[in-house]
Amino acid sequence: MGEFIQVIEHSGFVMWFTGLSGAGKTTLAVALEKEFRRRGVRVELLDGDSVRQSLTKDLGFSKEDRDKNIERVTYVAKLLSRNNVVVLASFISPYRVIRDYVRSETTNFIEIFVDAPLEVCAERDVKGMYAKAFRGEIANFTGVSDPYEIPERPDIHVPTNLETVEQSTQRILTWLEDRGLIPR
Ligand code: ADX
Repeated sequence: MGEFIQVIEHSGFVMWFTGLSGAGKTTLAVALEKEFRRRGVRVELLDGDSVRQSLTKDLGFSKEDRDKNIERVTYVAKLLSRNNVVVLASFISPYRVIRDYVRSETTNFIEIFVDAPLEVCAERDVKGMYAKAFRGEIANFTGVSDPYEIPERPDIHVPTNLETVEQSTQRILTWLEDRGLIPR
């Protein structure tokens, strides 16, 4: 017999991870997803890199397309969050106005600014994209040849060049526990 994780009652919320490519959005979302599942929280992960291979594979990186990308994801996040599913969404989402739109459309929106200086992201260059962007081989690359509007009042600020993944994850979990959004 397999072991069943007991699902506990909780309300839905949306953890919106915004920041530059390579800042650590996906890493944090995946770490939290694992911990939420362990605690019996219903959770769904929406990540830019995978969503752009399915739901939004027709879109590029102009402002117009980035906005469309986020609008479609918002629709999904809205359905999930209002049905008490926790949504972990990691998208660069460089424009303030569209992030405010997500907040207005979803249940319990939490903006998390995943913050690392451009030099650090470029140094990490996990996908080798910064090197290409600096050589001018990728147009409209966020932080290099395209804007990133930093969140003015994020709910949670995570400086990933100053904290370990474990420290950031723990701090976010405590933040959620303190507000009764997840069980301890
Ligand atoms: S968003 O701006 O529309 O929110 P999203 O998070 O979905 O972006 O996708 C970003 C990912 O697409 C990056 O992690 C990177 O792998 C890839 N990518 C390809 N081209 C670009 C570009 N011009 N700017 C930023 N990311 C790009």
